[in-house]
Amino acid sequence: MDTVKFSGIEACVFDAYGTLFDVHSAVGRHETRIGEQADAVSNLWRTKQLQYTWLRSLMRRHVDFWQLTGDALDFALEAHGIDDAALKDDLMSAYMELDAYPEVGDTLMRLKQAGLKTAILSNGSPGMLESAVRSAGISELLDANLSVEEVGIYKPDPRVYQLAVDRLGVAAERISFQSSNAWDAVGAATFGFHVAWVNRFGQGRERLTADPEAEITTLDQLLPIVGAG
Ligand code: LAC
Repeated sequence: MDTVKFSGIEACVFDAYGTLFDVHSAVGRHETRIGEQADAVSNLWRTKQLQYTWLRSLMRRHVDFWQLTGDALDFALEAHGIDDAALKDDLMSAYMELDAYPEVGDTLMRLKQAGLKTAILSNGSPGMLESAVRSAGISELLDANLSVEEVGIYKPDPRVYQLAVDRLGVAAERISFQSSNAWDAVGAATFGFHVAWVNRFGQGRERLTADPEAEITTLDQLLPIVGAG
């Protein structure tokens, strides 16, 4: 799929968690306090967090991503027999300042230099997204930092993807959407974006409603696909 090119792209829109920011860097910073269960805690935290977004959307019982992320962490810590309020606070603080993947800043800069609009479209609450972008030093490289809080439901509800169209003033077929989350890539493709799935984790292809048109492993590989490199 590496020869795919999207034509007429005006904006590149990025998922945040797992795509621009390494969600496992939070537990990574406190690994010694968790011990050999650290990876399992981090994986269960992420799995529960995503499940809670889908379940709450289905039940129409939205809470913002900060509360939901804390609930998922409570589940993951308890499942591993960890009862440590200070650790929970420190993990949540770390989630506000996750590491960006190494190629993120340079890729965004090159997209901007090519005249493309850039934006985040994420489940994250506005406060979480602002903090993550600030600590990664990429605020200046983004035209918009869009949170699902504006529509009150989580991905992959089509209203979330529509938010990028509305707020950027760019038609869906002129947007390239990037996510490392296979299901988010499918949701965005189903909505009508061109999609590059950033398959950082060697995930399997989803059998759902639409396939992403391109598959890459790091974000710099997006540049030739959208005509920016
Ligand atoms: C987000 C999640 C899906 O940033 O990673 O929206």
